[in-house]
Amino acid sequence: MRPKILVTRKLSDLAEEKLKKKFDVQLNLSDIPIKDEKLIKIANNFDGMISTGWDNLGNNFFKKLDHKIKIISQVGVGYDNISIKSAKEKKIKITNTPNVLNESVAEITILLILAASRRAVEGFNLVRSYKWKDTPPDIPKTMIGNSVTGKTLGIIGMGRIGRMVAKCAKAFAMKIIYYNRNKLSENLEDGAKYFSDIKNMLPECDFVSIHTPATPETKHILNSSTISLLPKHAVVINTSRGSTIDDDALIEALENKKIYAAGLDVFNNEPNLDKRYLKLDNCFVLPHIGSATHETRLAMSMMAVDNIYCFFNKKPLISEVV
Ligand code: DGY
Repeated sequence: MRPKILVTRKLSDLAEEKLKKKFDVQLNLSDIPIKDEKLIKIANNFDGMISTGWDNLGNNFFKKLDHKIKIISQVGVGYDNISIKSAKEKKIKITNTPNVLNESVAEITILLILAASRRAVEGFNLVRSYKWKDTPPDIPKTMIGNSVTGKTLGIIGMGRIGRMVAKCAKAFAMKIIYYNRNKLSENLEDGAKYFSDIKNMLPECDFVSIHTPATPETKHILNSSTISLLPKHAVVINTSRGSTIDDDALIEALENKKIYAAGLDVFNNEPNLDKRYLKLDNCFVLPHIGSATHETRLAMSMMAVDNIYCFFNKKPLISEVV
């Protein structure tokens, strides 16, 4: 009998085709999210599952599993939606899709850096509202933003994505500094300056970009006390997870011009982000599209399928979390 695999969201077509060749598969071609209660109910019919960060696989989900599911293969590098402790207790393997999205997340990070500092939303709205013609070309004032070239970028979390961002930022001659649990080897640092204490790094940042996973340690890593250490012209960028930022603190700083701007691709409580962000001209927002390119989503989907394939063929997993 072929193992039965549940796929909770639409994958890239090629990956679905590949999966169907070897397994009995329930796809979600409509891509309508499966409600938590329904997911818990149907999951017990399957030997494995391909999940995404939008599925709520917390403690409650695992409690109701009756030992049929052996592997959950997440499409995504982040797995903060999964209770790893419960998975371990139930001896369920968890895999993710690291590496293949480094470039696309770095691209969105650079886009946010540029858009937030060069006031892309205001410029776009000016043109779209047909008010450009009424705007005097005031040389030192009209639509004036902050330059990016040659500025200092502070990276919080210098993993694979953080390092790819550093590499791209160097095209703008940015000086890279970073805060990380551990100092990297000289080779991986590639000229970046290490800070063992985030509080010492923040005052030096023209831009600060978060690239840590969502963990209890990184929750609200930017809060009122750390944000207060940033210079007034600083720009905050987040493409990691919303939980790394205390919304009240960031919104207060943006409203009162305690910092210059923010560029955010991720939020607390997605997709129901704090609406106050939408009222701010100095905040450029995107709907969590860091990995959303054809190439990257295909690579992520394929890796998730390959992890399932390896597991059921007793081969080493490509990217094992636990
Ligand atoms: C990830 O891989 O964790 C991304 O945030 C999903 O797009």
